[in-house]
Amino acid sequence: MLDIVATKTHDEARQGESYKPFTSDPNEYKRKFYIESYGCQMNFADSEVVASILNKEGFGATRNVEEASLIFINTCSIREKAEQTVRKRLTEFKKLKAQNPGTLVGVLGCMAERLKSKFLEEEKLVDIVVGPDAYRSLPQLVEDAADGQKSINVLLSREETYADIAPVRLNTNGVSAFVSIMRGCNNMCSFCVVPFTRGRERSRDVESIINECTNLFEEGYREVTLLGQNVDSYNYNPHSDNTDHAVSFAQLLEKVALISPLLRVRFSTSHPKDITSDVLHTMAAYENICKCIHLPVQSGSSRVLQMMNRTYTREWYMHKVDEIKAIIPECSITSDIIAGFCTETEEDHLETLSVMDYSQYDLSYMFFYSERPGTLAQRRYADDVPLDIKKRRLQEIIEKQNALSLTSYKKDVGSTYKVLIDGDSKRSADDWVGRNSQNKVVIFSKNNTQYKKGEYVNVMITQKSHSIWKNRLDRALVSCFVI
Ligand code: 5AD
Ligand code: SF4
Repeated sequence: MLDIVATKTHDEARQGESYKPFTSDPNEYKRKFYIESYGCQMNFADSEVVASILNKEGFGATRNVEEASLIFINTCSIREKAEQTVRKRLTEFKKLKAQNPGTLVGVLGCMAERLKSKFLEEEKLVDIVVGPDAYRSLPQLVEDAADGQKSINVLLSREETYADIAPVRLNTNGVSAFVSIMRGCNNMCSFCVVPFTRGRERSRDVESIINECTNLFEEGYREVTLLGQNVDSYNYNPHSDNTDHAVSFAQLLEKVALISPLLRVRFSTSHPKDITSDVLHTMAAYENICKCIHLPVQSGSSRVLQMMNRTYTREWYMHKVDEIKAIIPECSITSDIIAGFCTETEEDHLETLSVMDYSQYDLSYMFFYSERPGTLAQRRYADDVPLDIKKRRLQEIIEKQNALSLTSYKKDVGSTYKVLIDGDSKRSADDWVGRNSQNKVVIFSKNNTQYKKGEYVNVMITQKSHSIWKNRLDRALVSCFVI
């Protein structure tokens, strides 16, 4: 029976992941750093920038926290639960610090600004606090902290994109990598803390993005995911006075796709108001741009959407779904959904369920509303939907999504897909695991096949996985036929 899908905080399987470089590093490091990351993919990509900065200072990455002289936790503020997890981890690190005097503990990322005085001064949980735009100052901050000084930089920037820093790829499979193309967010969705923690939107230099993707391809990577809080508003203008030179997201997508037909291109996240038909036509024109769009709806009620400041209505969103399906019929669509936002009625909730039906999402990340300090919603509206109702509505949303995913996965049986092999399946080294263009996981037997990780193979789907769906890997298409 397919009944459980864990409520996802971004990619649940990756939360709290610690890092070791993927490629073997010939250098011997006397000093080691340990970094644990939470939250969205942007945060994971930022940890790779931090690793690069620390590497240059002579620190090597370790996955064993006990041998680290620097311990970092890259934090997320988006929901209350993430904050609680971080606090718990910091208390554990404090104990470790007592055993190994001289170890420094730092908080990076989105929680830095809000909790700086609490963590550093009041609770003395950490030695270093660094916001997402201040990672270049880490070497100095580490030095200051080692001298016993207060070490803090949470300044947000209008320019910082870390364009010139080559991220050290950590914990990857050597096949797919994330490439950050912009930072910050100018939308003011009333529930969201991101505009406050990550600052204003800025786009990264197009050349540095193309160089990074080209280098990845030459190193053997076969998939890049272009990352940003709102990728569709990417706009890079090297001569800010001359709009003729501005590069739009559709143009960037095309440039990356042209690196090689063997390099798959994905992107995340799209705001429905910003994804243009140019982007959709570019996706349709290039086989290697993956046919998968993450298009968070948040709510299906126009009244709630207005309070969320999403700037579209239910009908407008549904029209966007129609447009996607008309231009790219095989495209999968995924979503983020919030249950129980301020003032949400039963009727509003039913509208969310019906927009899910209309959009036929292949996968959704589903949350109940959690009020975040400093957001527009916190200042303007009462968080007035009782917790038990929020949870019940979330459960209904999860059940709806399970049914939609089941239909979508069943529909795939009998079809043949081009699959990029990610590596050995977690369940058995006799099987490969890979993904199709729609980002669905495909597991197939290695029997009589001479394929390697990072290669493409056409696979005919014979069945969908029967296990209970707890995480993305459980939602798999299984095949015995390789064509
Ligand atoms: N409460 C619940 N979910 C939230 N999200 C963002 N802020 C909140 C909040 N305060 C969800 C949104 C967003 C995803 C990354 O996290 O659905 O798209
Ligand atoms: Fe938050 Fe909205 Fe920006 Fe997404 S688009 S990061 S939900 S403010």
